Amino acid sequence: SRTLYYKWEVKSELKSPDCFKKLTLTINGRSPGPTIYAHQGDTVIVELKNSFVTENVAIHWHGIRQIGTPWSDGTEGVTQCPVLPGETFKYQFVVDRPGTYLYHAHYGMQREDGLFGSIVVWLPEGQTEPFAYDHDRNLILTDWYHKSSHEHSAGLAAAGSAFTWVGEPDSLLIQGRGRFNCSRLGASATCNSSSPDCVLYPITVVPGRTYRLRVSSLTSLSALSFQIEGHTMTVVEADGHYVEPFQVSNLFIYSGETYSVLIKADQNPSRNYWITTNVVSRNSTTPLGLAIFNYYPNHQRKFPPTTPPAGPAWNAVAPRLAQSHAIKARQGFIHPPPKAADKVIVLLNTQNTVNGRRRWSLNNVSFNMPHTPYLIALKNNLLHTFSQAKPPTGYDFKNYNIFVPPPNPEATVSDAIYRLDFNSTVDIILQNANMMALNTSETHPWHLHGHDFWVLGYGEGKFDMFKDPSKYNLVNPIMKNTVPLHPFGWTALRFVADNPGVWAFHCHIDAHFFMGMGVVFEEGIEKVQKLPTSIMGCGESKRFIRP
Ligand code: C2O
Ligand code: CU
Repeated sequence: SRTLYYKWEVKSELKSPDCFKKLTLTINGRSPGPTIYAHQGDTVIVELKNSFVTENVAIHWHGIRQIGTPWSDGTEGVTQCPVLPGETFKYQFVVDRPGTYLYHAHYGMQREDGLFGSIVVWLPEGQTEPFAYDHDRNLILTDWYHKSSHEHSAGLAAAGSAFTWVGEPDSLLIQGRGRFNCSRLGASATCNSSSPDCVLYPITVVPGRTYRLRVSSLTSLSALSFQIEGHTMTVVEADGHYVEPFQVSNLFIYSGETYSVLIKADQNPSRNYWITTNVVSRNSTTPLGLAIFNYYPNHQRKFPPTTPPAGPAWNAVAPRLAQSHAIKARQGFIHPPPKAADKVIVLLNTQNTVNGRRRWSLNNVSFNMPHTPYLIALKNNLLHTFSQAKPPTGYDFKNYNIFVPPPNPEATVSDAIYRLDFNSTVDIILQNANMMALNTSETHPWHLHGHDFWVLGYGEGKFDMFKDPSKYNLVNPIMKNTVPLHPFGWTALRFVADNPGVWAFHCHIDAHFFMGMGVVFEEGIEKVQKLPTSIMGCGESKRFIRP
């Protein structure tokens, strides 16, 4: 194994990813940032220079478990202090599993302004995947707003009638590019449909060859359907784990998920085809995301002669649930889960209010980040820096009706965390419910830092502690790091708390996490090695660097 050394500089620059000019957060001048290509077992070092004029930053390596390096997880407030303007911070970690991963800002809502990219981890030289393909390609799917994340966070944090929801995205981007219809704005100097930034991204294919396409989503809000006109896809990987192959004509993908699909370039080669994304789960006004599946030697920019396919209906939950059920571990690559759990945590997901502010809560507790990052506080016994309460492990199962808005929407805000026994097996039951408005329940993609979990099952309605565990898949459950919680349904996960550190578990929708939709787990803090002082400097951790 080797050590890969990257020097990155983050900046705020005017770019036009969808033809509309906006301050975009870039890495070495680009959004998405550079793709990290590594082999399993390699050490990745990223020296990150913060060249923002006024903003802090932190970067999370999404799907990398950080075994032995919990301080490199990049979660501001949980594992480190923010990196200040002008500072350089060194991330160092091992990519210990092959597969498709991501990185993105984990400070405020910066991710939605473009600070993200891909990590591709190949098998060690000489080893081959259990499926055949000729070429390897990569696409990140995102949604895009013309307003800045600062304006969004100010609106979300405002009380009473000043509260402003972020609304539907202006565009969907594929590999950082899309096309907003500038004529919708009238004559405007800020929208330029001939900007080179918004030329649709092409994937060039040679007729007859098979492509492994890594498709991942880092949307700030939207659940997506992804399709390539006229081509079926075979799903073979999810979040770095091999999937028992199955075919789809469209792939549902939630923020924080990664997939590999195999596609054969077997259609009429005299033309190009549309690659499209469309919003599902929300009745969105956002137009389709577009890219070009370019058959060599047609020109990369030649639009296909057809109307882009619209994708499935936004409100059809059944096909999305069906895809979730279809994802199983591949034969020959099954890691069976422990037979039973030591602890079960049920998390009721509700929309709430706290002191006139709109929030999201788990068991009526809305998450708030402390001033001293948990990892530093716990390792140094600064237990007065956050609440020592035990957050609730369940809700009033008997009486709570998940099909109506919360009867008493007032929740509490807390920075208390779940402290898990080291090496214990933990089940998490995510229970969805009605939001504040009648007959609405959203899809929440839940992401766990520091671990992969087994997906034991999905169900509709209220999870029944006595009946539903008998339906768990303990035979060939897929392991993932991000999983959807479907509207009015439940999702059951199992993981082993075997990675010393402090780990966030949260909804991957930027605005939802910002509004409190997350929890934090601690395990084996006494086994964490000496913390680097580079993560310190904020809150009460000042004392360790300025004696
Ligand atoms: Cu990709 Cu804590 O997130
Ligand atoms: Cu959510």
